[in-house]
Amino acid sequence: WEVSWDASAAVKGGYETFMDKEIHEQPTAVADTLLGRVDEHGELQLDEMRIEPAVLRSVDKIIVVACGTAAYAGHVAKYAIEHWCRVPVEVELAHEFRYRDPVVSEKTLTVAISQSGETMDTIQAVRHAREQGSKVLAIVNTYGSTIAREADAVLYTHAGPEVAVASTKAFLAQITACYLLGLYLAQLRGNKWADEVTDYLERLAAMPAAIQRVLDEQAPQVRDLGARLAQESSFLFLGRHVGFPVALEGALKLKELAYVHAEGFAAGELKHGPIALVEEGLPVFVIVPTPRRPVLHGKVISNIQEIRARGARTIVIAEEGDSAVEPFADHIIRVPATPTLMMPLLTVVPLQVFAAALAQAKGLDVDQPRNLAKSVTVE
Ligand code: G6P
Repeated sequence: WEVSWDASAAVKGGYETFMDKEIHEQPTAVADTLLGRVDEHGELQLDEMRIEPAVLRSVDKIIVVACGTAAYAGHVAKYAIEHWCRVPVEVELAHEFRYRDPVVSEKTLTVAISQSGETMDTIQAVRHAREQGSKVLAIVNTYGSTIAREADAVLYTHAGPEVAVASTKAFLAQITACYLLGLYLAQLRGNKWADEVTDYLERLAAMPAAIQRVLDEQAPQVRDLGARLAQESSFLFLGRHVGFPVALEGALKLKELAYVHAEGFAAGELKHGPIALVEEGLPVFVIVPTPRRPVLHGKVISNIQEIRARGARTIVIAEEGDSAVEPFADHIIRVPATPTLMMPLLTVVPLQVFAAALAQAKGLDVDQPRNLAKSVTVE
């Protein structure tokens, strides 16, 4: 009698790596983060929001403090929260926030985003914000963690345990939680008509199925592409609007996992410097906004033409049915049509799959990349 499975494979649920498993758990991570937070009338009920409504109504600035991938979730959230709530949102790397002299008052809401809740830089930023009289809302994944305990209120992401060092499902859950916060504030402050909040909540509720479609329909070819490009030494990622932080995250994943040079840029910044890096054969990922935002879309299409003309190999992430990208794309990855603010939940998925596949093709340890720790508990 021989047992033909091993325990670690069982823990990975049949996936080769924890990262693969966690990438595939993303539809559930988003669904679970929404679960129980919307009532039968389509209204948001955030019982855990233990900051008095009067305080939340008087907030005149939101500062997000976070590190790494969590900071990019905050960067995505800035676009949504400013649009919905008309409150300025600053996104600060926690370690930079802590050691300058930031403008924080009782009217500032500090939002600390952290998967582990134990990142020392973020803990220090939370303490600093509270000392200045700011209320702190934590968006964390780990129940009872230091940040959760020290904050005035906690909005948990329900991504489940994340084992791979490089964050994936926590990122999607963080964006989801930030969006719930934004819609809650809009509802509370009367910035948006109630039906508009309901509408966005319905769109959020549709995201798990859309993420699943990206995984089912795109992941196999993206994995092939990762294996084919495993010998490349440099990659660029371009995005505009919410595609910009997604580009930064795509580059970060590749650096973390595959140890190759990768940089993310705002597509509009291309002509101000990065275009000088473009040379024959350079792989460049471009995240294309929906054609239903023609001005944004047209600008990114021009960017693709500019880099293509200079020899870049363009890998384009575009909405289904967007044919304008076809003449200029060496490779197209399709995502379902989604409102602009929801797009990051889809467009980042192929970038995660790509980075993991490329690292695997190089024979690297995807779950435990060199020099990195899951939770950085020193400053
Ligand atoms: C480390 C991890 C990253 C993570 C960052 C923030 O650098 O390697 O994947 O994004 O910490 O971690 P946190 O637990 O605060 O989200």
